[in-house]
Amino acid sequence: MSANAPSAPSLPDAPLSPDRRLWITVTSVAGGVGLVGAAVPFVASFEPSERTLAQGGPVEVDLAGLAPGKLQTVEWRGKPVWVLKRTPEMLASLAHDDSLLADPLSTRSEQPAYAKNPVRSIKPEVLVLVGICTHLGCIPTFRPTPASPDLGASWPGGFYCPCHGSKFDLAGRVFKNVPAPINLQVPPYEFASADKLIVGVDPKS
Ligand code: FES
Repeated sequence: MSANAPSAPSLPDAPLSPDRRLWITVTSVAGGVGLVGAAVPFVASFEPSERTLAQGGPVEVDLAGLAPGKLQTVEWRGKPVWVLKRTPEMLASLAHDDSLLADPLSTRSEQPAYAKNPVRSIKPEVLVLVGICTHLGCIPTFRPTPASPDLGASWPGGFYCPCHGSKFDLAGRVFKNVPAPINLQVPPYEFASADKLIVGVDPKS
């Protein structure tokens, strides 16, 4: 989901859900292993640990191997960041009725200025989102198939949070009448080349 920004509402400060706890536990265990490994060569301890870099440094994503329609998750600052290569059909699914969305223009939601547009991205085909629900921090599921039996005939494809039922479209925009108050967060990112994405830094102007 991967790595992430102008002033905007932060993620709600609320008790951690089981899924969020699971994510933190998994990343903490992985980080602990990294720390043990870093302690072995003493001289190397003067260098930033892999855990430090993973938590705070930019994260590189190779887009060449990401097929259209597929989603890749990377970790940035301890958070899952999704990178989704949207197909033309996925982009067309965003042209649904804006009155169904809680914040269609992302005026109350968090994203860099360069991603404040209807598709919420620099390149329309590449979506980058923090994969944490803006309600209470669960990890939504990727549900790209339209008209899913359990989500209804009008489901356009998007992300569904199983904790309390929040729904987001394939730009991370939240639908009305669900608990999540704002859209999924877009982290800062830039394209170092056509196939290389860097999560955690803004584009050089
Ligand atoms: S955490 Fe409540 S709907 Fe996602």
